[in-house]
Amino acid sequence: MKKYWQILKNYKTSLILSPILVLVAVLCETIQPMFMAKIVDDGVMQRDLSVVTETGIYMVLISIAGLTVSVINVYVSSKASIGFGTDLRTALFDKIQQLSFFDIDHFSSASLITRLTNDISKIQQIILMSMRMMLRSPLMLVMALFFVITINTDLALILLIAIPVLGVSVFFILRKGFPFFLKVQQKVDQLNEVVRENLINIRVVKSFVREDFEADKFEKSSGELRDMVIHASNIVASIFPVMQLVLNVSIVAILWIGGFKVMEGELKVGELISFVNYLSQVLMALMMLSMIFMNLARASASSERILEVLNANPSLVNTPEGLQDKYRVTRGEVVFKNVSFRYPSGETDVLRNINFEVKPGETIAIVGATGSAKSSLVQLIPRLYDVTSGEILIDGISVKSYHLDELHVRIGMVLQKNELFTGTIMENLRWGKEDATLAEVEEACIAAQAHEFIMSFPEGYNTMLGRGGVNVSGGQKQRICIARALLRKPQILILDDSTSAVDTETEMKIRNNLHKLLNNTTVFIITQRINTMQSADKVIVLEDGEINAIGTPAELLENSVVYQEIYNSQQIVF
Ligand SMILES: Nc1ncnc2c1ncn2[C@@H]1O[C@H](COP(=O)(O)OP(=O)(O)O)[C@@H](O)[C@H]1O
Ligand SMILES: [Mg+2]
Repeated sequence: MKKYWQILKNYKTSLILSPILVLVAVLCETIQPMFMAKIVDDGVMQRDLSVVTETGIYMVLISIAGLTVSVINVYVSSKASIGFGTDLRTALFDKIQQLSFFDIDHFSSASLITRLTNDISKIQQIILMSMRMMLRSPLMLVMALFFVITINTDLALILLIAIPVLGVSVFFILRKGFPFFLKVQQKVDQLNEVVRENLINIRVVKSFVREDFEADKFEKSSGELRDMVIHASNIVASIFPVMQLVLNVSIVAILWIGGFKVMEGELKVGELISFVNYLSQVLMALMMLSMIFMNLARASASSERILEVLNANPSLVNTPEGLQDKYRVTRGEVVFKNVSFRYPSGETDVLRNINFEVKPGETIAIVGATGSAKSSLVQLIPRLYDVTSGEILIDGISVKSYHLDELHVRIGMVLQKNELFTGTIMENLRWGKEDATLAEVEEACIAAQAHEFIMSFPEGYNTMLGRGGVNVSGGQKQRICIARALLRKPQILILDDSTSAVDTETEMKIRNNLHKLLNNTTVFIITQRINTMQSADKVIVLEDGEINAIGTPAELLENSVVYQEIYNSQQIVF
């Protein structure tokens, strides 16, 4: 809540102005029946048309004034609630940027997207609603009661009985409905989740021909939502007959008792009419109040989900020593000492007892079956995850002693699942280094074997990628990603299966170029290709999270069974 208040503070003027506007509008509205009574009693009953005209004009003018004020309030409250929504979304987005891979795994991307969009809109709506109606209902109740009492205290008693009766019945109905409203919200979230997951993974769904399965999943989710909504609506629907009943009974009571009073001369006809009017105003106010409560309940679930992220502590932050930003990665020596690692969601260590040393400028190939934890291993070097036990040293200093920015700038990484952003190729490349000159960009692209195909597009480096632009092939995408990483001239470069979609010949060229462009850079290459392994200075063979063998390609060819198997399986037999 404190977080919300910090943002709401920026809209102080609106928050103060809005209740004042509401007060004026309510005054204009609740005073109308008084004029009505005057028209009937002093005008119609006395056969004095001038009173009717004069009071009528007042009524119209006050009506217009009330409407104008209401319109201004809609403007003021919309502006504030939309502004609040935007600020909140920005705050949430900023927070998500600070989260580590760890935390993103925990929340899941799909759910973060829902929070950024759906949940925020909910909060925005409820703020708009509150600013327009929250104060309005109680104010109307009070004002209507006030006028009623000034007219006739006895009749006011009827209202005083009707209001609690209504209040209590609405309360009971809502209390019964509350859990269902919350469940409706959960079902909506579930449905959203199903849709988002499906869309994010649509390629997988299609390639595995799982559309029917996914459609069933959607139908099930959607059906559950339908049942829940029907249930909740039935409960809400029962509010209206109850209200109608109480309203009608009250009207009859007022006309009955009021009729007597009119006959006895204690009450005027116009006053009786205005009474009936006040009664419906009070009812309207109660209905609005119950609607706000309903929506508040729905929004509270959204609010919880937003606050959960806003209040999350990023699990990977700079250590006190790292914050001092004392150390620089200058040579690119990497040492793993007894490193074990487990994912936060995992039950077993995916890496166990990893020990090895890499000298500056060496090229290390990491090989092993899928799931042997190759990707997990390299992600520990730039501290995308923290080791569970053991230590990783870069240039003799623990990675935890470096500032995270230093690690991320000096260690270039091309992830296995790399994506480009919507924008031009140039924008994507400069994303790695904003101030890169054209010459630098071209140098990196030539090295990554991307220059040629980029220049084959009519617009060259200004070609749009993604939505509304060209779609590059998997191999081309990989080469752009490599160029993006090269631009920074990192001291340590990690290529996680980054050339899997590039043909062997091109890959060899890229490897040779890397050597020339970054001859002091330490390079980790995760690869399936024997050629790449053979050209490395050192090879690490991972098996099920442990180092099975480590050494130069020649050594491994001699004494590692696993390496020999890989080698033999990739020799072309004539
Ligand atoms: N984000 C993650 N959360 C939990 N477990 C993971 C995560 N990423 C990978 N794993 C698990 O860690 C193991 C090693 O995976 P990975 O490092 O991707 O292997 P490789 O790159 O060799 O194919 C696998 O069992 C995988 O299921
Ligand atoms: Mg991998």
